[in-house]
Amino acid sequence: MDFERPERGLHVGIIMDGNGRWARERGLLRTAGHAEGAVRVSGIVRACPGLGVTHLTLYAFSTENWHRPLAEVTGLMRLFRQQIESKTEGLRRNGVRVRFIGMRHRLPGALRAMMQAMEERTSAGERLHLTVAIDYGGRNEIMRAASTLAREVARGTLHPEAIDEDALAARLDTNGLPDPDLVIRTSGERRVSNFLLWQAAEADFAFPDVPWPAFDEAAFVAVVAAFRARQERDERVALQAGFVS
Ligand code: IPE
Ligand code: IPE
Ligand code: MG
Repeated sequence: MDFERPERGLHVGIIMDGNGRWARERGLLRTAGHAEGAVRVSGIVRACPGLGVTHLTLYAFSTENWHRPLAEVTGLMRLFRQQIESKTEGLRRNGVRVRFIGMRHRLPGALRAMMQAMEERTSAGERLHLTVAIDYGGRNEIMRAASTLAREVARGTLHPEAIDEDALAARLDTNGLPDPDLVIRTSGERRVSNFLLWQAAEADFAFPDVPWPAFDEAAFVAVVAAFRARQERDERVALQAGFVS
């Protein structure tokens, strides 16, 4: 009998920022930046298995992004529909399981139905767990988890003493996913912008300067390699200090 823990791959979260700036530099509409950004996703997804990344979480639309001009919001919702339409079959064939997190009941009905169908059609995928955050905010997610706990206590199905970190984590949208090891935010901005606030407590952060539409596979590979090098260095230091046997 082998008691070794099964190897889990990396969980990488990405705040896909800089679409607007990329477009402006080229004299294009912001919507064109978002469209080019969507093209980048395929390459990043393709690169994951080879890099040992088993979980990828992409921040596509924040709870704050509703405050953008209506035309931009509408364009993004259309882009999400187009992406689901054109990508579902290929992702399914490649063993990618897609799930969505966020306030999905606030999204347009047609999009919601497509998201659910995509989750169902890709549910057997095991090579890569792809989570897409749409109308997602970390504070909102934690607030909803707290509210679920309160309702269970009020109903008498949960003892207040049973509330620990695991109990709260189990009521987050990300229930069942490992915490991210690495969070990448493109375009040089160094803000967390409400992404995975609870889950990224122990994560490493990388802030490549390139805007998302210019963040290609090679750039992704370099960021993950730099992260692994940091990780190995920390493990060596811990070993030398005798913290790890
Ligand atoms: C990120 O790019 C995409 C979304 C938030 C949907 P931005 O649209 O924020 O691009 P910048 O930050 O204005 O360049
Ligand atoms: C964060 O980017 C949200 C997404 C990438 C979906 P924003 O551009 O919306 O964040 P702020 O406004 O710079 O904080
Ligand atoms: Mg931005």
